[in-house]
Amino acid sequence: MNVLNLDDFSTEEINQILDLAEEFKNGKQVDYKGEKVIANLFFEPSTRTHYSFDMAALKLGCKTQNFDAENSSLKKGETLYDTVKTFEMFGADAVVIRHVENEYYKQLVGKINIPILNAGDGTGNHPSQSLLDLLTIRQEFGKFEGLKVVIVGDVTHSRVAHTNMKIMERLGMTVYTSGPEEYREEGTKFVDLDEIIDKVDVVMLLRVQHERHEHSMIETVEEYHKLHGLNMDRVNKMKENAIIMHPAPFNRNVEIADDVVECSKSRIFKQIQNGVYVRMALIYKALK
Ligand code: CP
Repeated sequence: MNVLNLDDFSTEEINQILDLAEEFKNGKQVDYKGEKVIANLFFEPSTRTHYSFDMAALKLGCKTQNFDAENSSLKKGETLYDTVKTFEMFGADAVVIRHVENEYYKQLVGKINIPILNAGDGTGNHPSQSLLDLLTIRQEFGKFEGLKVVIVGDVTHSRVAHTNMKIMERLGMTVYTSGPEEYREEGTKFVDLDEIIDKVDVVMLLRVQHERHEHSMIETVEEYHKLHGLNMDRVNKMKENAIIMHPAPFNRNVEIADDVVECSKSRIFKQIQNGVYVRMALIYKALK
């Protein structure tokens, strides 16, 4: 089984993956006794996705190889396909790949004969992040149908936003977007943060993805924080049971105030923890 794009999974299959992740959270044991090897091939920087896939593999009793792109033969012009094929020939049982190119996996499918787990493609998809976000929401509310979420920030450049907007709508949630006008995404329900903050169940913040911008953002950090950042004044206007999420890494005092990061409504570190369980579920299903 490949995990490339959540569009390939029915809502029933998505709930089954979340159920399995919940089982791992509750202590389900699987031990491959070092007989399976997961290769983590990150062609873009990552902390959470890379090392939680690694941790998930280790918890399942797999061995891992962690590709060092900076000191690899990429520097000699080797292609993505040739790199991935090399790890398949080494004997990897599955590959986890993050790459800057949207839908990079289309050049691999049908030619790579081990499961591919997409750890993020450009501004396109981030399926494992979206699944851990869904797990966190389901743990909190016990359902998706009828929930309202606002995704705030650099929606245009965010694979997390793009993946979540599609799957959340499919699961019956209403998704709004907010933030600077320049990051407004066509076809989304774009709203003023201060007008929606007291009406939503989830406030999902995004980092400004400077690395994907051709020119620097117009606003200063202070202006951004004042206009679009989540501070305690805004938190205090949220519904009593509403929660704050962020895929991280976050920039303190830009999109999120320092004192909001670990406030009682924040589920940011819980998301990170859930990432391990979701990735255990994905590796387990891929190896089956
Ligand atoms: N959320 C996320 O993808 O974080 P990393 O870039 O650190 O993997």
